[in-house]
Amino acid sequence: MSRWEPRTIIEPFRIHSVEPLRITTEQQRAAAIRAAGYNLFNLRAEDVLIDLLTDSGTGAMSRDQWAAIQRGDESYAGSPSWFIFRDAVQELFPYKHVIPTHQGRAAERILFEVLGGPGKVVPNNTHFDTTRANVEASGATPVDLLVAEGTDPGSRHPFKGNMDLVALEALLAERAADVPVVMMTITNNSGGGQPVSLANLLAVREICDRYEVPLFLDACRFAENAWFIREREAGMGDRDVRDIVREIAGVADGMTMSAKKDPMGNIGGWLAMDDDELAEKCRNLLILTEGFPTYGGLAGRDLEALAQGLAEVIDHDYLRYRISSTAYLGEALDRAGIPVVMPIGGHAVYLDARALLRHVDPMSYPGQSLAVALYEIGGVRGCEIGTVMFGVQPDGSEQPAAMDLVRLAIPRRTYTQSHIDYVIEVCEEVARRAPDLPGYRIVEQPRMLRHFTASFEPLVA
Ligand code: F0G
Repeated sequence: MSRWEPRTIIEPFRIHSVEPLRITTEQQRAAAIRAAGYNLFNLRAEDVLIDLLTDSGTGAMSRDQWAAIQRGDESYAGSPSWFIFRDAVQELFPYKHVIPTHQGRAAERILFEVLGGPGKVVPNNTHFDTTRANVEASGATPVDLLVAEGTDPGSRHPFKGNMDLVALEALLAERAADVPVVMMTITNNSGGGQPVSLANLLAVREICDRYEVPLFLDACRFAENAWFIREREAGMGDRDVRDIVREIAGVADGMTMSAKKDPMGNIGGWLAMDDDELAEKCRNLLILTEGFPTYGGLAGRDLEALAQGLAEVIDHDYLRYRISSTAYLGEALDRAGIPVVMPIGGHAVYLDARALLRHVDPMSYPGQSLAVALYEIGGVRGCEIGTVMFGVQPDGSEQPAAMDLVRLAIPRRTYTQSHIDYVIEVCEEVARRAPDLPGYRIVEQPRMLRHFTASFEPLVA
């Protein structure tokens, strides 16, 4: 008799406490987004119905995480909560030094203040925006060396987050002395939440070894990446995710981490490494701006919640649900003829705004236009990842980014399937109205990270 495999992959949890959503009308939302200068970061969150701006710090904590919060010990130095946190990190990432920070960018800031500087070059499969900004703030130059498939929204390559090995080799052959570290972002957030294969990581390691350059992970979504390796890479299907994560960690010399993603925290991060000298320099900077090395930028209760979150995120039932529920949204949009980056990534679905809004020139920000429409029409808040975010060049000029995407990031354990069914309907309605959506121009913008605070105006035809 064949085994029955249910078609519906249910949430492997039930609801314990609820938060109300405020239902708004299209008219109310049109007024709210106008008042926000057409920048979705500028909205009041109560005016958003389904918030897919980010999966960072927006997940639901578990009963056991809330219980762990009660155990938090707020001793300034040597708190038991610190040792629980450190052991939970080292269980998965067995680096000698663990340095807690208040979030990922604080870890980046410290690492690049030590390793960066004018004349240095930092390769990455794709820098996330804060990583790029922290490399640049040190005076160094970030370079993205993603495989070609990674910027082709139509390519079905299973590991579109992989590093271009030929390009990395060429860069190191020419400039190894100027490269203080090679970074690998798992999964590749800015490139569609796409995973990196273990084979690619091992090949990067081999190149780094030949040129004696350290390799660091930007490991925010390590568990989702490990699940993709288990599902898609030859010979990995029977492995425990915990072992895959430990193997990934062993390939690198250290990591930066935002604990607001896979570790299921609302805040937190860390920096970890084996190198004693580097760790000492980083700890000295930590004390300047974050705090004492046994709490970093965090309260004891946060350290406890993260330790518990790390135990929960590697659960196979959770990861199966997580990855298939993101795919559920993306595949429904694909079936409806809405262009999305394929295959669907781990934490988010990326709409291809340039393909959907062919009448809007990239310099008139099709991603911004699509993101505003999703909010006005359905109260769904996504995030432009395109020319607004990445169009400004180091010399201050502006060019179209490689892609104009809108990211619908799924907070962990927060929305149910009916919320997602509603999002699918909103996207279908927006796609019907796509030919009428306007381009935008920027009215005001800061010099760096403009997407957070710029204000916009629709272009009238
Ligand atoms: N690296 C990656 C790959 C990220 O996705 C993020 C944050 C960071 C570093 C920085 O971490 O926010 O804790 O300081 N990404 C969030 C996002 C903000 O929406 O994708 P942080």
